[in-house]
Amino acid sequence: MPRSTQHNVNLTDLNTFGVAARARSYAEVRDIDELRAALKQRNSTEPLLILGGGSNLLLTQDFAGLVLQNKLVVKKVISQDADATYIEAAAGENWHDFVRWTLDQQLAGLENLSLIPGTVGAAPIQNIGAYGVEMKDTFHSLQALDISDQTIRLFNRKQCEFSYRDSVFKRDLKERYVIVSVIFRLPRAAKLHLDYGDVRAELARMDCAAPSAREVSDAVCNIRRRKLPDPAVIGNAGSFFKNPIVNRGVLAGIQSSHEKVPHYPATDDHVKLAAGWLIEQCGWKGKSLGRAAVHEQHALVLVNRGGASGAEILALARAIQESVRAKFSVELEPEPVIV
Ligand code: EPU
Repeated sequence: MPRSTQHNVNLTDLNTFGVAARARSYAEVRDIDELRAALKQRNSTEPLLILGGGSNLLLTQDFAGLVLQNKLVVKKVISQDADATYIEAAAGENWHDFVRWTLDQQLAGLENLSLIPGTVGAAPIQNIGAYGVEMKDTFHSLQALDISDQTIRLFNRKQCEFSYRDSVFKRDLKERYVIVSVIFRLPRAAKLHLDYGDVRAELARMDCAAPSAREVSDAVCNIRRRKLPDPAVIGNAGSFFKNPIVNRGVLAGIQSSHEKVPHYPATDDHVKLAAGWLIEQCGWKGKSLGRAAVHEQHALVLVNRGGASGAEILALARAIQESVRAKFSVELEPEPVIV
């Protein structure tokens, strides 16, 4: 039995957008037994929402079901071989604290993913990424609980079907499993990734000619703090849209009127466009719709100016999608889970 199932719970402080919504019932689970008990007790037709840090979530209405907050914590080195160290972290661990802990153990590999909000258990679901690194690069395997029969299943990297901000848990296995722990393989001779965006420039500013993994982490934190709003100060969920992947024909069409459109290689015949640039070109940067707004420093981040409802934020997102569709014929796909 989860220690404390509560009813009619206010979720405002449990989502980083800070939108007001209520859950019909809510429980925290601190170990697998509590998780199993909570799932057994639930009526299988009752909607279920598994909550980690609430940092990739837009609540547009009250939730007429059970919200389970994953508070499973523990992180440890599980084994080492000649080439790598294997570490395991429970799903409820805070992602950034976990990254800094790996650096305390003198382990490199996760430093570019510093300061990403959320939990370890949420990281594989959308294969979090930043500054030229994705979680899948050091992912080894994960354990997940099957919601239907409460058995534990092990998933290796291939079975997770990772791609850009995506995994099998967002598609075919959506809402079928609760991730309970993740194992990473951190190579001893981890190569530092310094070539994305402002990382090298920030390291130069910090006077680090031969940076350590910890210094790369510090540089990434500095860049993120400058560019991205702190959810503790202004509600947001990081990038609201994925960077769209389009074929070269679409790129050529945009280049005919906007020669300098930023783009990055994706596959042989596809490129990734910068959604922030597309949104800025449509004039949305810094603009508001009701109490929802587009961040002044980064057009890919939608913010709650104070008291915005999830529906207001969604209305802004829809208006942005329409503008980008009309101007560039490109579809923007939201990154957060919309409930
Ligand atoms: N840009 C604009 N205007 C803006 C914002 C960006 O023109 O208002 C242009 C920039 O000048 C640059 C390009 O867009 O040429 C890319 O911008 P940036 O380097 O800031 O990265 P991003 O593509 O917007 C992605 C991730 C971030 C991650 C950064 C750094 C996605 C959806 N977002 O953002 O991840 O931190 O790269 O690696 O892939 C998140 O997922 O929540 C997130 C913050």
